Amino acid sequence: MKKRILSLLLAGAMMASLFVGCGKTADTAATDDKAATEETTDKTDAAATDDTAKADDAAKADTESKDGAVQVGVVLPTKDEPRWLQDQAQFEKILGDAGFTNQVLFSQGSSATEKTNIETLLNQGIKVLIICAQDGAAASAGVEEAKAAGVTVIAYDRLITGTDAVDYYVTFDSKAVGAAQGQYLIDNAPSGKSNIPLYLYAGAATDNNAFIFFEGAWEALQPKIADGTFVIANSSEAEALKDKATLDRDQESKIIGQITTDWDFNVAKSKAESHLTAVGAEMKGDVAVLAPNDGTSRSIADVFATDKDVTSYLITGQDTEKASVQYVIDGKQSMTVFKDTRTLAADSVDMAVSILKGETPKTDTTYNNEKVDVPAKQTAIQVVTKDNVQSVLIDSGYYEAADFTGLK
Ligand code: BGC
Repeated sequence: MKKRILSLLLAGAMMASLFVGCGKTADTAATDDKAATEETTDKTDAAATDDTAKADDAAKADTESKDGAVQVGVVLPTKDEPRWLQDQAQFEKILGDAGFTNQVLFSQGSSATEKTNIETLLNQGIKVLIICAQDGAAASAGVEEAKAAGVTVIAYDRLITGTDAVDYYVTFDSKAVGAAQGQYLIDNAPSGKSNIPLYLYAGAATDNNAFIFFEGAWEALQPKIADGTFVIANSSEAEALKDKATLDRDQESKIIGQITTDWDFNVAKSKAESHLTAVGAEMKGDVAVLAPNDGTSRSIADVFATDKDVTSYLITGQDTEKASVQYVIDGKQSMTVFKDTRTLAADSVDMAVSILKGETPKTDTTYNNEKVDVPAKQTAIQVVTKDNVQSVLIDSGYYEAADFTGLK
């Protein structure tokens, strides 16, 4: 009986939290956290009925009384990329609103730290683990340990591969991210021109998403490489495969092996420098650059901007990191892709609530992780350019206008 009441209370609290608008996030997440929580609480109180507000309080009291046991633990890959601070800020708000003790740990780019983080959470008594893996294959050991301890595992944003110890996957439509990046380059390339130099970059080969992003981008770009609109400037492997409309994993691995940034700004910068040093004038002028995310995009853009033989460059990104939104406003990065972390964090906490209630969470697709088909919940993405920063990011309350200069 008590369990049923708690379930209802949690459900009520979740509903309330899901309808709450969220304030600013990202770079300032850590310092702004308290203010953000207060802001969210105010909005919750204003929006919710008395009953829901009471349910919220009761749910909090109930979960807090469990001898301090943490029911839901979150592990994120690194604090060094603003992308994951956006997710952290959302988790802290949403978990708090749902009455859970906040427990978000960072692996700081290390699979060993990630495993220790999982073990710390297991010792704290978690029932559900929400994890964005540092390395999708290496994370299997940690989640198998969690599974053996009776914990339900939700892979967050990055799929964990080669194990049946992943119960659910909450993700953005990553193929659509890559497709949107490729399509942007096609739609904005100088019209009527051919042999436009195309520089390709990818994410880390240890991240399954890097393959999905590249797959989406390749399938968009390949017809325009095959018809001579673009000419690949920096990958002999991609050049050798340019007639293939779709690539298998091995073919993608070969290309990514050459053009990976490892999701590292410095790797991205030095690769871009050496690529521009290696090519002749025919590979400069007006160029197009497929950059996989915002951090690497800013690094690569800075390199292309300082090459006097590069007349203009188009460059992609993703994550709507504040620094990149400013680059987009300033014309230094052409586009970014908005992946609304409010939705992803809410979806995974929602799943956790269902699991704790003994229900089967709602999913809408599956992803094969080389071992099993993992039931997944997928969220759409949105392209952001100079023209819609205001409507997509400011009007929706994701960021504040004051975070940027020169916003029109
Ligand atoms: C995420 C991207 C992020 C990248 C680097 C990917 O798995 O989906 O949003 O930019 O990792 O951290």
